[in-house]
Amino acid sequence: MIMTIVVLHQVNLLQLLESIPQESILGVGCGAPLHFAGVRESETVVDLGSGAGIDVFLSANKVGGSGKVIGIDMTDEMLEKARKNAKENGYINVEFRKGDIEKRIPIDDNNADVVISNCVINLTTDKVSTFKEIYRILKQGQGRMVISDLVTDKEVQTDSIDSEKWCSCIDGALTKKNYIGSIKKAGFRNPEILEEKLYLQEADQADGSSRRRRISSIVVRAVKD
Ligand SMILES: C[S@@+](CC[C@H](N)C(=O)[O-])C[C@H]1O[C@@H](n2cnc3c(N)ncnc32)[C@H](O)[C@@H]1O
Repeated sequence: MIMTIVVLHQVNLLQLLESIPQESILGVGCGAPLHFAGVRESETVVDLGSGAGIDVFLSANKVGGSGKVIGIDMTDEMLEKARKNAKENGYINVEFRKGDIEKRIPIDDNNADVVISNCVINLTTDKVSTFKEIYRILKQGQGRMVISDLVTDKEVQTDSIDSEKWCSCIDGALTKKNYIGSIKKAGFRNPEILEEKLYLQEADQADGSSRRRRISSIVVRAVKD
């Protein structure tokens, strides 16, 4: 029975992925936030760190012509890819804007029904500031964020950060406790973890020193009440 459900879930996921521009699928996410977001027709969705647009296009199919999806990314390269994907595939309910999500998300206050993000917030240096920005743009009372991200059981001290591992979403990861703490500091009262999976178990380093961190992917939901 469980096997049947898993297979059906995978078939469903494959069908969803077939419904969007294939060039938007970069394989760099760490979860499926939309699966938990309950996005409805006519809603406004904002995707932070939208890359080539995978979750923007999946959301666009859910909100329909009366809804709107806005992807935010800081790199021109990603924005160019995403806009090309939207134009070539005739999406009229999507838009891609340039912005650094930890400084200022280019969206007005109290505007979004849903904020999603897939493996991006670990890349920011000031997570509280990023979550404060999310809080600001969500609609009061019903606005919700559903985020996939990586957490670790052992944070890296500032002087040991490896820039390559930071860019691979590893060295910027917080512990689950600090991640949830950052969300609460930003004003959200009841963040909840909806899913948690082992993502990577680090091996000892070549020089014999042991880091052996356990990196997990989580899906977190919080509402601006
Ligand atoms: C790991 S990729 C994930 C892309 C996309 N979410 C996906 O699943 O395919 C991280 C993306 O976040 C963007 N990014 C990283 N830091 C950012 C920031 N501070 N503000 C806006 N975008 C950022 C990068 O340019 C990149 O496109």
